[in-house]
Amino acid sequence: MSLAPLRNDTFLRALLRQPTDHTPVWLMRQAGRYLPEYCATRARAGSFMALAQTPELACEVTLQPLERYALDAAILFSDILTVPDAMGLGLHFVEGEGPRFERPLRDEASILALAAPDPNQSLRYVMDAVRTIRSALAGRVPLIGFSGSPWTLAVYMIEGGGTSDFRQVKTMLYRRPDLLRHLLAVLTQAVADYLNAQIEAGAQAVMIFDTWGGVLSTSHYQRFSLAPMQQVVAQLQRECDEPVEGAGHRRARVPSIAFTKGGGQWLEQIAGSGVDAVGIDWTTELGDARARIGSRCALQGNLDPLALMGEDAQIRAEVARVMESFGVPQAGFGHVFNLGHGISQFTRPDAVQALVEAVHEYGRKQRASTPARA
Ligand code: CP3
Repeated sequence: MSLAPLRNDTFLRALLRQPTDHTPVWLMRQAGRYLPEYCATRARAGSFMALAQTPELACEVTLQPLERYALDAAILFSDILTVPDAMGLGLHFVEGEGPRFERPLRDEASILALAAPDPNQSLRYVMDAVRTIRSALAGRVPLIGFSGSPWTLAVYMIEGGGTSDFRQVKTMLYRRPDLLRHLLAVLTQAVADYLNAQIEAGAQAVMIFDTWGGVLSTSHYQRFSLAPMQQVVAQLQRECDEPVEGAGHRRARVPSIAFTKGGGQWLEQIAGSGVDAVGIDWTTELGDARARIGSRCALQGNLDPLALMGEDAQIRAEVARVMESFGVPQAGFGHVFNLGHGISQFTRPDAVQALVEAVHEYGRKQRASTPARA
C-alpha cells in the first residue's frame, strides 16, 4: 500500500519545536458525542466497542471532525481501555455511567496471571483502524496514536470503572505496593508494545493520557505514574518511514506527548521524561509553563473545555487569552493549541468552528507582529 506525502505537517513541526506559519490545533475527544454524525454512526454500530472494533466505522468517525473543521491533526478513534480489555478484563460501556470491567483486578492471583498482550493479535482491530485511517487521510494531516499511562490503566483495572475516591487502587498502593509495582511493570510493557505497534501501522505521533496522575502525592506520582511513563517513552520507536513527493520514503521523527491531568506542579519532571511535548490542563498558565519548561519541550493545551459553553465572541476572547499567555511561538518553543481536557458532549458544534478559526487567525497575527527569528 502506498501512502500520500503529508500536505500539512504544522502539528508535527510544532511538536518538534520548529517554526510554523500558524498555530496548529486539534481537540481531545474531537470525534465524540457533541457531533450528531458521531451519534448516528455509533447508533449504526450498536455499541461503543462495536464502533471501535470495526476499522471502517472507526475511520469514518475519526474523519468526521476533519470534514467540519480545519483541524491540524487526526486522532485514532479508539479508547485507552482497549488494552485492559485485551488483557481479559471484559470492557463494556454502561449508558450514562461510563466504562465498566466485568472482571476488575481484586486479588493477587488475577494480577500475577496478567501478561502484556501481543498488540498485533488481540488488538489487531486497532492496528487495522490505524492503517485504514492513514490511507483515508491521504496526507491531509498527521494521525495521532495514543494509549493510557500505566498508572491510569491500573486505576481503571483495579477500580473496575470510574471512581471519585480511588479507594481500591490507593488501598493497594499503601498495603501492597509490591503488587501494584508488578501490575505497573506488566502495563509498561503492554503500553510500549501497543504504541510501537501503532507507529508501525502508521501513527505519526503518539500521546500518553495520564488522566489520574494528579490524584497522587508528589512522591507517589514520581514512583507510580511518572517512572513507568518514562520507561514507556524510553522504549518508543523514534522514527517511521514517511512518504515523500514523487516516490520513496524518508525517516521521520515520531514525536511523543505526555499529558498528566492535574500535573501542573510536576511540569519540569514531565518535561525531563524524554517526551517531545507536555500536555497542560487549564489550571496552569501556559506562560508559566513555558517559563518553567523553556525550550526542552513543546506545549499542548490548554483552554478549559467548558469555555466552549460561551458565545462565539467569548470563545474567541478566551482563545486569544490562552495564546497571549503562551506568547509568540518561535523556533525552540512550539505550541499546539488544544483543550485542557476532553471536549464536553454538550458543546455546540459551531463553538468548535469559532475556536479553530480563532486559533488560526490569532496565530498568524502573533507571527506577523514579531519579526521572525532564526
Ligand atoms: O480524542 C478522540 O477523539 C479519540 C478517541 C478517544 C476516546 N477516548 C473515545 C471515547 C480517546 C483519545 C479517549 C481517551 C480516554 N478514554 C481517556 C483519556 C482521556 C481523558 O478523557 O481523560 C479516558 C480516561 C478514557 C476512558 C473513557 N472512555 C471514559 C471515562 C469514557 C466515558 C466518559 C464519557 O465521556 O462518556 C469513555 C467513553 C468514550 N471514549 C467516548 C468516546 C468518544 C464517549 C462514549 C460513547 O460514545 O458512548
